[in-house]
Amino acid sequence: MAAAPPHVLLLPLPLLGHVSPMLKLAKVLSLRGLLVTFLTTEHVHRRLSADEGLNCRPGFSFRSIPDGLPADHPRSGGQFTELVKSLGAQIYEKYRDLLVSLREPWPVTCTIVDGLLPFAAEVGEELEIPVIVFRTSGPCSFWTYFCIPRLIEAGEIPFPVGCDMDELVRSVPGMEGFLRRRDLPSICRVKESSDPILQAIASATQRTTHYRGLIFNTGETLDAAELAHIRSTCPVTYTVGPLDTILCALDRSTGSAAGPPSSSSPGWWREDRTCMPWLDAQSPKSVVYVSFGSLTVLSRPQLLEFWHGLANCGHRFLWVIRPDLLEEMDGAGDIPVELAEATKEKGCLVEWVDQREVLGHPAVGAFLTHSGWNSTIEAISAGVPMICWPFFFDQMVNSRFISEVWRIGVDMKDTCDRATVGRMVNEVMEGERADEMRRNVVGLSEMVRECVDEGGSSRIHLDQLIDDIRALSL
Ligand code: UDX
Repeated sequence: MAAAPPHVLLLPLPLLGHVSPMLKLAKVLSLRGLLVTFLTTEHVHRRLSADEGLNCRPGFSFRSIPDGLPADHPRSGGQFTELVKSLGAQIYEKYRDLLVSLREPWPVTCTIVDGLLPFAAEVGEELEIPVIVFRTSGPCSFWTYFCIPRLIEAGEIPFPVGCDMDELVRSVPGMEGFLRRRDLPSICRVKESSDPILQAIASATQRTTHYRGLIFNTGETLDAAELAHIRSTCPVTYTVGPLDTILCALDRSTGSAAGPPSSSSPGWWREDRTCMPWLDAQSPKSVVYVSFGSLTVLSRPQLLEFWHGLANCGHRFLWVIRPDLLEEMDGAGDIPVELAEATKEKGCLVEWVDQREVLGHPAVGAFLTHSGWNSTIEAISAGVPMICWPFFFDQMVNSRFISEVWRIGVDMKDTCDRATVGRMVNEVMEGERADEMRRNVVGLSEMVRECVDEGGSSRIHLDQLIDDIRALSL
């Protein structure tokens, strides 16, 4: 009888920033010959079904389970916490049953689960199926999450009332020289160290040491210092990114007819391609691309501050305004005349774009971003400097790395008044340090490109990951 082929099941948190990189890894593993099951919620599966490239590869299958929310629940924007709660209550039994049902014809050799779904590891332990964890944020923020117990023990969390948010923190090894209180993940801004979200994320992160391995969507050289710290406690850590680039390269080399789509987030919102001819008509590096990812929400006053800042900054802008970007869509009201006029003249507003394609367009000179990890790694790959307005979680750490460690952008953290927006956009587009930031980000983009080239560290780590999975099926 033939030996069972290695069969991997991937389970992301059902949010775009998690689904998208894990789906890319799933496709990569499938292109490399593993059997792959991609498990997500029915809601996400419906959204992904808009992507015609799915379901076509032999050995690749989708499974879905309900998330427990009513069909008309938005599940995104400001409401994603309800999704996480509902999921927690729903999923253990359903996930367990599904893993059991997948015993035939080819049992699951190992699961690759989102690091923020610790129940999946418990199920793995119960069924004796090995677990590898995928963290969709970067190593820099992972390391700060990992240090939360030390920060609490040292009395650095919670912050003292009325403290100076610019003061450096001392309990994150390797970051003592530049990480300020305000740069810690937003979950550290709590009144009590017993805060349930702080505790849940800290404990999910600590548990990483128990799993077979840890995966990041990054290139080894970008985060070498943090990775050294992480490997001191999680020795089997694979860096397999940027997955976008690996996927494209693999797809070309295998000539896959059912190849993955080029889009950075297939089928999530409907892409508006009218911005492409608009970009084609702009001069090189003249446009500021503005997007706050898939979860950030803005109040109307914040939206207007950004808008005034962009209208006054002297540069053209392409702005993604998702249908659920505003906190209260009903309160959107009329747009002030001067903004409408300025936008007609120098702006282009769209609901959703193929971000990778936009960042790769020669007209784009800078990216005003919320510093989500996917956006950060996509901008680095494309060599585009950033203006950061981190919204929450890991984004606070990412934006500090962008401005102070990699020096490829500026960080407007905790403020978005129109003057700051305009000043920071100009600083990156044309200021004294603009050339230096651009040179730095182009250098980093070459560095990550080397990681994914044949023989590069991401290829080696990917081979290692696949070998390790194969070894589990023997
Ligand atoms: C979140 C967190 O911010 C991130 O740090 C975490 O690790 C994963 O979850 P999100 O807030 O959505 O994700 O931001 P980001 O990580 O940047 O992901 C957004 C994705 O949407 C990117 O891949 C981006 O290319 C894509 N996108 C965004 C589009 O394809 N089109 C758009 O118009 C806007």
